[in-house]
Amino acid sequence: MILDGKAVSLKILEDVKKRVSALPRQPHLVVILVGDDQASKIYVNNKRKAAEKVGIRSTVLELDADIKESELIDIIKGLNNDTDVTGILVQLPLPKHIDKNKIVTVISPKKDVDGFTPENVGRLAIGLEPYFYPATPQGIIMLLDEYKISIEGADAVILGRSNIVGKPMAQMLLKRNATVTICHSYTKDVEDKIKTADILISAVGKKVVRCKMVRNNSVVVDVGIFRDANGKLTGDVDFDYVSPSAGYISPVPGGVGPMTIASLMYNASKVY
Ligand code: GUN
Repeated sequence: MILDGKAVSLKILEDVKKRVSALPRQPHLVVILVGDDQASKIYVNNKRKAAEKVGIRSTVLELDADIKESELIDIIKGLNNDTDVTGILVQLPLPKHIDKNKIVTVISPKKDVDGFTPENVGRLAIGLEPYFYPATPQGIIMLLDEYKISIEGADAVILGRSNIVGKPMAQMLLKRNATVTICHSYTKDVEDKIKTADILISAVGKKVVRCKMVRNNSVVVDVGIFRDANGKLTGDVDFDYVSPSAGYISPVPGGVGPMTIASLMYNASKVY
């Protein structure tokens, strides 16, 4: 069965739109885009369009690639103190001369719609409710919940340990009482671990899940999105080979991507 992220995302966006219209004030999301990474430009434009669709005001600040780290920090501090701004998102990656961890640390946790600040990450880790959950893992949980896929007690295997997906995904699955394994470039016998998964989440950015690797009836969530040799958008999972044995599988495109945007809009509709 296909995990239709596109269809579920439309439903969530409808709910967010209703939520926004019932708020006493219109949320205002500021997206900061530094430099001219082409993929980032597309992502930011998709976020801007989604915000417009649900009635969230959005402003995109396009900054030069050679902006000083200290200047970027000052801009974020200004947005933190601006009561007109309810959400701040710094699109990653940042140019090499800027330390992304230093930047993320400056964002006010109550405006951190990405859930990347140390306070929000720490809150999630110690079992305190964060102000925001990171959009991609939150979107994946929403997708699993929509299909009534049981997380409690499941063996979940995550491929990839990024701060954006792998690590927060592990925390969120733990919170829902899954047993979690994170695999990365140093993991031994990855294929054996993949075989144990009731729920497999792949967030690598390379074709890593092939042919008969997954257990029968497992749930396969593909977070990867990149272009193959023919320029076609594809994911980490060899869909044609894996889908016959999977119980549920998310396609690329049309799976996790639209869920991430919907989940981000849900976050942007929260005003503290
Ligand atoms: N770059 C890739 N994914 C993300 C994301 O979820 N948030 C931000 N800010 N940048 C990203």
